[in-house]
Amino acid sequence: MSIVYLNGDFIPLEEAKISVLDRGFTFGDGVYEMIPVFSGKVFRLPEHVKRLQASLAAISLSLDYDNEKWHSLVNELSGLNNIKEDSAVYIQVTRGTGERNHLYQADFTPTVFIMFRPLPATNFAAGVSAVLHEDIRWKYCHIKAVTLLPNVLLKHYAKEKDGSHEAILSRDGYITEGAASNVFMVRNNTVITPPKDGRLLPGITRDLIVELLRESGYECREVQITEAELSGADEIWITSATVGIAPIVKIDGKQVGNGKPGPVWRAVNGLYQAFKTLPGE
Ligand SMILES: Cc1ncc(COP(=O)(O)O)c(C=O)c1O
Repeated sequence: MSIVYLNGDFIPLEEAKISVLDRGFTFGDGVYEMIPVFSGKVFRLPEHVKRLQASLAAISLSLDYDNEKWHSLVNELSGLNNIKEDSAVYIQVTRGTGERNHLYQADFTPTVFIMFRPLPATNFAAGVSAVLHEDIRWKYCHIKAVTLLPNVLLKHYAKEKDGSHEAILSRDGYITEGAASNVFMVRNNTVITPPKDGRLLPGITRDLIVELLRESGYECREVQITEAELSGADEIWITSATVGIAPIVKIDGKQVGNGKPGPVWRAVNGLYQAFKTLPGE
């Protein structure tokens, strides 16, 4: 995984250098994607590229890379690194280099970077714990922005507080998402996840889970969840490209349901694991 893509070149990671005046460094002025790779197969690439294009458009960053170009760059880099195992593709685009000034110029040349990284082996079958925290982020959370300081602080808070894996966030009493994941809850066999708007990232895993649940006959509603509803849930899960679907068995030290991963999680996780191995996916 030592070969990376930077601004048109495929080069070793150690040789990939950018300016300290890159706006990604000075302002966090850029967007990114994280795409999982299972047994060497890049998973849901078109969906991730579509979200990347939406993030670029949302910050008015124009880049002449169409979907086909993204697909072929990722596939070429996979070949150059001989990717056969589980890993992840990281793509970052910043507005490029210029004097440090909030205002940007139309003629900046964006910085484009792609690398493959190992996917840390995880086993969430026994469930993980989470903490609840106020959502301290901005109101454009549908953009996958590199400006992740609040998320970093929230993840760290969860770990420091009681060794928790995730911080589940609420804004004005309503659950938004996790610091690096989307949130689902189950009550009386109905699955609920907050609707997609500026308060949360439209997770690629989230959308697939909603699809798989509905196809297999579960009622899955995309509606607001209050903190009180979450605390009365039978099951809670978090989802992301790198984690998959992780059952939350404890929040702020309090047991969720019976404190064990629930039956609906087992069912949907089975569907998700099977889906990952389908040819063409
Ligand atoms: C804030 C946030 N929400 C949700 C997600 C899940 O999105 P996806 O399933 O596309 O990984 C992520 C993933 O990193 C995230 O950072």
